[in-house]
Amino acid sequence: MTRPYLSIEQLTQRFPDGQGGEMTVFEDASFGIEKGEFVCILGHSGCGKSTIMNILAGLAEPTSGVVKMDGFEVSGPSLDRGVVFQNYSLLPWLSTLKNVTFGVKARYPSWSRAKVEEHARAYLAKVGLEGDVVHRKPSQLSGGMRQRVSIARAFANQPKLLLLDEPFGALDALTRGTIQDELIKVWGDTEQTVFMITHDIDEAILLADRILLMTNGPFARVAESVEITIPRPRNRTQIVEHPNYYAIRNHLVQFLGHRSKELAGQQSGGAAQSPEPVRIDKTKPDADPEPEGARLRAVNE
Ligand SMILES: Nc1ncnc2c1ncn2[C@@H]1O[C@H](COP(=O)(O)OP(=O)(O)OP(=O)(O)O)[C@@H](O)[C@H]1O
Ligand SMILES: [Mg+2]
Repeated sequence: MTRPYLSIEQLTQRFPDGQGGEMTVFEDASFGIEKGEFVCILGHSGCGKSTIMNILAGLAEPTSGVVKMDGFEVSGPSLDRGVVFQNYSLLPWLSTLKNVTFGVKARYPSWSRAKVEEHARAYLAKVGLEGDVVHRKPSQLSGGMRQRVSIARAFANQPKLLLLDEPFGALDALTRGTIQDELIKVWGDTEQTVFMITHDIDEAILLADRILLMTNGPFARVAESVEITIPRPRNRTQIVEHPNYYAIRNHLVQFLGHRSKELAGQQSGGAAQSPEPVRIDKTKPDADPEPEGARLRAVNE
């Protein structure tokens, strides 16, 4: 078997629990991501999604286990991995434009100042930030604007791996839709691999090739890997008409509503914990029966 582009091998993270003991967030989590894949991860608050992402970014060390990218162990941050943090993390003393050019200069040291600025402005324009606003400091921007600067900064560096932690959480529905479209365009034009955390099931189905489902913690597990059997290009108004849409959606809702709790707290016993692949396809006559408990209607979460 060939090794995937990004290989997460028996990753374990334990933290002090604040009372002299320790708390296991996840144990022996093992999964792979192929080059060019767009993978979303869904799971309840506190299950360990950001912790996994920080390890993939090389910004945190796991208690044990390794992450390999293209065969090399990830240790420390790298310009090959671009991150949009849950809390934006802009440099407060730099203008919007400089927050973006800062990384571009490091990424492309041979570029002229004019070229760096033009490139940064082009990416800021993609997220709707143009004109005088690019000279404002982060403290002078709204939360949604700050989030967009953070997205532009990650996109502009054209990293091989884009790590996105709820990148659209602070955006209104309209802006969110526009920037989701930009993300798909940027991803479609490059060989980028995307790992994205979201709380929005519909966003995950619209964007992802595959959705990883995490159980609740402690001892959380990446329990399932659900293939999104809906062809691209996908359109947010038409996607709901695809025969697989509600079948997949209901499977995800069931997982987050029930099975994420039922499967919680299982210890690994030292064995690699890999997600079970799930493929739901209603377009084939001999398709698998409906997953247990799933309904062909939208349900409220
Ligand atoms: N540095 C730390 N020290 C101690 N505990 C931590 C630390 N970082 C995270 N945790 C704990 O690890 C668990 C997972 O946190 P994490 O931020 O990864 O969750 P998450 O899935 O991203 O949640 P959310 O959806 O709310 O962002 C939580 O219980 C959290 O309190
Ligand atoms: Mg988080």
